[in-house]
Amino acid sequence: MTIGMEGGEELSMELGNAHGIPHVLMVSFAGQGHLNPLLRLAKRIAAKGLLVTLCSTHDIRHRMVNSDSGAAASDLGAPKPVGRGFIRFEFFSDGLPVDDARRKDLDVLMPAVRVTGPRAVAGIIRRHAEAGRPVSCVINNPFVPWALDVAAEMGIPGGVLWVQSAAVFATYYYYHRGLGKFPTEENPDVAVVRLPGLPQLKKEELPTFLLPTSEYKPLREVILEQFRNINKAAWVFANTFHELEREAIEAISDRVPIIPVGPLVEPPEEKSSPAGIRGDLFKAEDCMEWLDAQEPHSVVYVSVGSIVVLSKEEMEEMAWGLCDSHRPFLWVVRRDMRSLLPEGFLDAVGDRGQVIEWSPQEEVLAHPAVACFVTHCGWNSTLEALTAGVPMITYPQFGDQVPDSKFLVEVFGVGVRLAAPATREEMKRCVEAVSTKQRGEEIRKRAAEWKKAATEAVAEDGSSDRHIQAFVDEITNKRSLSI
Ligand code: UDX
Repeated sequence: MTIGMEGGEELSMELGNAHGIPHVLMVSFAGQGHLNPLLRLAKRIAAKGLLVTLCSTHDIRHRMVNSDSGAAASDLGAPKPVGRGFIRFEFFSDGLPVDDARRKDLDVLMPAVRVTGPRAVAGIIRRHAEAGRPVSCVINNPFVPWALDVAAEMGIPGGVLWVQSAAVFATYYYYHRGLGKFPTEENPDVAVVRLPGLPQLKKEELPTFLLPTSEYKPLREVILEQFRNINKAAWVFANTFHELEREAIEAISDRVPIIPVGPLVEPPEEKSSPAGIRGDLFKAEDCMEWLDAQEPHSVVYVSVGSIVVLSKEEMEEMAWGLCDSHRPFLWVVRRDMRSLLPEGFLDAVGDRGQVIEWSPQEEVLAHPAVACFVTHCGWNSTLEALTAGVPMITYPQFGDQVPDSKFLVEVFGVGVRLAAPATREEMKRCVEAVSTKQRGEEIRKRAAEWKKAATEAVAEDGSSDRHIQAFVDEITNKRSLSI
């Protein structure tokens, strides 16, 4: 198999026994927080009997291979069996030279992909059609909204996977349509925003990109672009579940009938499978043996996902707060933040603390030794922790993380908020609040309830599973009618 092949004949051969089944093309933005939920949806759709081709940029291919996550460059294009169907990958150029560090800058990456992406995806769709493997549907995640336009122009039904909460979807939707009173440049003093199906949101609880003071206006624009063409989508899937966000989902459904298919966590059988298909962009370090050696419900797990960078002062306070909490801890400090650890800290904590560059997060959260999770509240981390039933200490930084934190603490009842900027005393207090016997009891009870609800939603015939099955049936019926 060759990546980015041109000939229809080679493609047919490579598809082997995946030939002849309905084919879904997914287009992912090049970020861990986007790729994970789309790939997990791909697995769930494939497991029900479809072929899914997931495409993203060459840089993602490079990072998947280097992370050693079971992805050998040579077989990414070949269909791998998943349940009754198959998954394969294809990659296209983002127009930037290999190793171009400017790729980290979204203001550079996004316009570059916008130039190369539409032509590349149209080419992929055409090649599959010529090879007798027509694409029945195109699904994209946020930041690549042009994929939906490409599908519409080629007469193929399109779908979107929204990778954040339904509440955040609704907030962006109302803002984009000019519904609801939001703080604006002209009127920055709106203190509270009231939206259907959502609790009242204070200005400082909104997704930060919407604030007139936001430094990330290009991000706001690219997110809102998806709302410009959202009516072209035949399906708007969301990584959430009905039981978790019933009111938000029902309220927005009059305008956009979103389809909850989450929590998109790794299916249990995939987690430990050596042949598992993974989209890790970082190389996880082995920490399971260390976890095995810890007491049940004793470990504080800390991670701020794939992009948040904390300040030196925040890192220092967190470090000494963890040290003072006298509990074992597992702290993910990505390579780009390593130099921010205070001097003498690692020696001071010794074997009580493990600092690693990247963890197998879902396995960590599912480990019985883990007592709580200090999180930046990225939506994937949020759902993974809810599914594992782990109480959270929320430390949101930007975007959707801010409303996610509010929901975790005030609506879902599974955490406490660490006030920013973090201090060592507050860090210690929060760890005690969620982990000690008396004080954390209510939080742990709620966390256990959400674990059950989340697990049921994606189990066979659960609310999200039924939605995925309905989509698969629709695609399969359409395809049978067209041949
Ligand atoms: C980004 C945004 O920052 C976030 O606000 C948005 O909701 C999704 O996109 P990110 O910051 O990376 O995501 O956080 P998150 O959504 O939590 O996704 C991180 C993913 O990386 C999770 O699936 C998590 O399991 C994984 N991860 C993280 C690891 O596998 N190992 C780690 O050590 C840390």
